[in-house]
Amino acid sequence: MTARVHLIEHPLIQHKLTLMRCKETSTSKFRALLEEISLLLGYEVTRDLPTELVDIETPLATMRAPMVAGKKIVVVSVLRAGGGMLDGIVKVLPAARIGHIGLYRDPTTLEPVEYYFKVPQQMDTRQVILVDPMLATGNSIVAAVSRIKQTGAKSIKFVCLLAAPEGIRHLHEVHPDVPIYTPAIDERLNDHGYIVPGLGDAGDRLFGTK
Ligand code: URA
Repeated sequence: MTARVHLIEHPLIQHKLTLMRCKETSTSKFRALLEEISLLLGYEVTRDLPTELVDIETPLATMRAPMVAGKKIVVVSVLRAGGGMLDGIVKVLPAARIGHIGLYRDPTTLEPVEYYFKVPQQMDTRQVILVDPMLATGNSIVAAVSRIKQTGAKSIKFVCLLAAPEGIRHLHEVHPDVPIYTPAIDERLNDHGYIVPGLGDAGDRLFGTK
């Protein structure tokens, strides 16, 4: 199965993303914009959730009305920048469980190494929404998806803020079943693995560490 790339071209998201790209944008503004965009992306990534009709009573009448049905959702954030997307996405998914995965790049092998992993139980019955702002080489997302699949998870969607063509290719070569939701696909990666034109280091801009 080949999953799709969903390009989210909503004008509000595009406007906010442009503000985030600007190098003058402050840490506090960057953080607020990422939260706002993540809320809007949460709306887009849940567009195909199944619903079922339930019987309710309004103040005037009884009716059958739709409610979200199907798999329970878990939002998994890739540390550390993924954390900046959690508050926004959870605003539209208040009942979602939350998981975390931490990976660092081994300086000699350049392979991602896991240093933290905590997700809820019964992952095989859940819809996973994996969040990380930057899909660059794709190495860490490929590793994160592989690790999440080891828990038995069968349905994983990946949501980011910016993607490089190289990262999309890599993720879909290894995990063709994982759809990608992104507001933008930039030109390329530079020699340091940064997305160009991009927005710089998302973690540093989010946490003010540079
Ligand atoms: N991670 C980032 O934070 N920025 C990039 O451009 C690439 C990876």
